[in-house]
Amino acid sequence: MNTVSNDTNELFQTACDAARHAGTILKKHFGKQKEISYKGRIDLVTNVDHASEKVIIDLISTRHPQHDMITEESYIELKGSAYRWIIDPIDGTVNYAHDFPVFAVSIGLEIDGSLEIGVVYNPILEEFFSARKGRGAFLNDVPISVSETDELEKSFLATGFPYDIKEDPYNNLAHYNHIIMKAQGLRRIGSAALDLCYCAMGRFDGFWEIKLFPWDTAAGALIVTEAGGIVTNLNGGTLSIYEKEIVATNGRIHEQLVREIQVVERREYGKE
Ligand code: IPD
Ligand code: CA
Ligand code: CA
Repeated sequence: MNTVSNDTNELFQTACDAARHAGTILKKHFGKQKEISYKGRIDLVTNVDHASEKVIIDLISTRHPQHDMITEESYIELKGSAYRWIIDPIDGTVNYAHDFPVFAVSIGLEIDGSLEIGVVYNPILEEFFSARKGRGAFLNDVPISVSETDELEKSFLATGFPYDIKEDPYNNLAHYNHIIMKAQGLRRIGSAALDLCYCAMGRFDGFWEIKLFPWDTAAGALIVTEAGGIVTNLNGGTLSIYEKEIVATNGRIHEQLVREIQVVERREYGKE
């Protein structure tokens, strides 16, 4: 275990540099032919996911050789460091594979189990979201904050669906069907990291999803809370990015959204 420094400037710079380098690769290959392979029935990965991941890993491991990394496309053995980088080289891979410009690089950093840094970068729209714990959230260096909508019925929401949607009936479709009738609008944009950032900046009022991985939510969850929003699990309890579910809102509609999610969890899946 290495010692923890209070100064996160250098680490923030690493996160920004890694996301920018990776974003440049995503942009360079966007709209061009990609090599696609399948991890599951509909779960795909492209050669660009791997290229993006490589520049991020190389940069972090060069600057911070003792740090740990968990990253979507490669297994890297943990060293027991207090510093853990959590990396999604392309969040929104299906969009990317179809030349649909809604995807991002997502990099979070936990220090001693606490999320301290998050960056999410969409290089096509040139939107760079960032946050450091206790220092606010930013879009292209301009401070952002959550929306003021306080009624679920007036809320513009987002969600997503897991890759095993066809195999497992716990697939968010019942939640979707129920909540679309309670909201003003409900979108599925295909990138959980951007869903979270769009909540942080007020484009969305709320977002929930099940079966997510830490690399989908680490950076975005911090960006939401630093923008004044709330992130919890589906019960409204403390969020763990390792527990695969999230509700993120502007805070004002949080209880209302959690209540409707719980209606579905109880009615359709017999959960308490
Ligand atoms: C996916 C996206 C999508 C969400 C899926 C994720 P990927 O990540 O975040 O919005 O609905 O559950 O797996 O595979 O594009 O990195
Ligand atoms: Ca992802
Ligand atoms: Ca990914």
